[in-house]
Amino acid sequence: MANYKVGTQEIEKINADALVVICEEDGVLAQSSNKVLRRHWENFHQAVKDRKSSREWFCTLEKSAGCTTSHLLLESVAFGGPGNHDEPLKSAAARAVAMCRQHSLRRVAFIVHHKVAPLKAAAILEGVILGDFEDNRYKSNPLSRPELDIQIVVSKEDKKETRAVLERTKIICDAQNNARLLVNAPHHELTPRGLAREAQLLAKSCGLQCEVLDHKKLKASGYEPTWQVGRGSEYPPCMIILRHRPKKPLRKMHIGLAGKGMTFDSGGLSLKTKETIFKMNRDMAGAATVLGVMEAASRLDLPIQMTAVITAAHNAVDGAAYYPGAILKAKNGKTIFVENTDAEGRLILTDALHRLGEEGSDIIWDYATLTGACMAALGPGIAGLFTDDEELRTVLVQAGNQTGDDVWPLPLVPEYKPWLNHTLADVSNLSRIPIGGAIHAANFLSHFVPKGARWAHVDLAGPSNTERPWRYYSPGATGFGVRLTVEALRLLTGENK
Ligand code: BES
Ligand code: MG
Ligand code: ZN
Repeated sequence: MANYKVGTQEIEKINADALVVICEEDGVLAQSSNKVLRRHWENFHQAVKDRKSSREWFCTLEKSAGCTTSHLLLESVAFGGPGNHDEPLKSAAARAVAMCRQHSLRRVAFIVHHKVAPLKAAAILEGVILGDFEDNRYKSNPLSRPELDIQIVVSKEDKKETRAVLERTKIICDAQNNARLLVNAPHHELTPRGLAREAQLLAKSCGLQCEVLDHKKLKASGYEPTWQVGRGSEYPPCMIILRHRPKKPLRKMHIGLAGKGMTFDSGGLSLKTKETIFKMNRDMAGAATVLGVMEAASRLDLPIQMTAVITAAHNAVDGAAYYPGAILKAKNGKTIFVENTDAEGRLILTDALHRLGEEGSDIIWDYATLTGACMAALGPGIAGLFTDDEELRTVLVQAGNQTGDDVWPLPLVPEYKPWLNHTLADVSNLSRIPIGGAIHAANFLSHFVPKGARWAHVDLAGPSNTERPWRYYSPGATGFGVRLTVEALRLLTGENK
């Protein structure tokens, strides 16, 4: 965790252990009146030009510089232009704090002089908070990690705006890191009921309404798919509903968020292999994203009516488990032939989508680690976006560009829809044609979207997790989708909050 404050001091007066300047070609130090700093900058710049130095320059700062700070760290990156997100800047900030930690420098000051300093400051803080995340809950003897003191130093004119932007950044990134903690947790710790408990705690701490339907209520209410998927486990399934009801919603719209909360996906009787099964505690990343978005929405006091529905289950195998060949009835009345018990995410999402209709949502976005096929199509870094609604597609793609939570549109091909037909039931959970699996899953979901609702589906099987260091993320959960959604909501409502 990192504390931060915004300052406007002159460089010499900054009270910190390390000064960090992340610069483009003509960085701020190029014009500095401080000769020592300027010389460091020129040497660094020349070395980068001559390709003698990497993008980093780390040194102790000699007394003659007249600074209170002991170390100087320079980084050279290409800043993002319009329509191009600031990922390199965030990564540079993350590298900077990692280097400072290595050298036990706890108080770190970033100097941000730029035409759009508040936005660049936000990117830096984002890189710091997301990059400094370390999940050591399960280590018996974790290294102690002192809290960092971060200063973001801007010009006096930029101070007010920077403060406001950073407050927002901090709320969003903290919510995202909370989502990462949920995704990393093993299945026996974060069971469906455990997920419900987390939602209740969150609701209490930030003023959301929370309702949980346990497995008995699920069955009694006709949410059969979720009940069926979860019935083979000793950790029973449930439905979690969170509501954000601002006092003065500015628009009539009612946003509904659905999250796949598979706290473990063994594949069921259509069992997964040992190569993939051990990762399947993370199959609730969609649910974690939705919780993160609700946390951020309520802490930011977004003036939008929002409801989240998470269906949570543990897809396991025992004598009572649901079987391939079962025929289920979804709550909208459609019957589903279960050809493969590993295509379970789409089953439990039918209940979440339906419930959002009952809750009155007119714009519904769902988040799910739904298909390996989506990862095969787009690789590990990008989520698949499915929607026939042009405005939703535009805001989500733009939000992805602006936040670094990249999404790429994939088509809901109407000609593929009949491939889900079944002779005995209305629809099968598996396509007759196996290739293009991400599209079939999305087409399947489209059968269960409440009438009249505008819908978008985000398949985040790839980017919800990273096996290797990626941008500013260490291996593990990324919390993908929190920033995306909060930004998309801002674009959709035109609110500058
Ligand atoms: N949870 C998986 C999808 C997944 C795979 C997420 C890899 C993250 C990493 C989902 O429930 C699943 O098993 N999907 C199947 C669908 C198939 C049986 C049609 C898949 O993608 O193989
Ligand atoms: Mg599965
Ligand atoms: Zn799954």
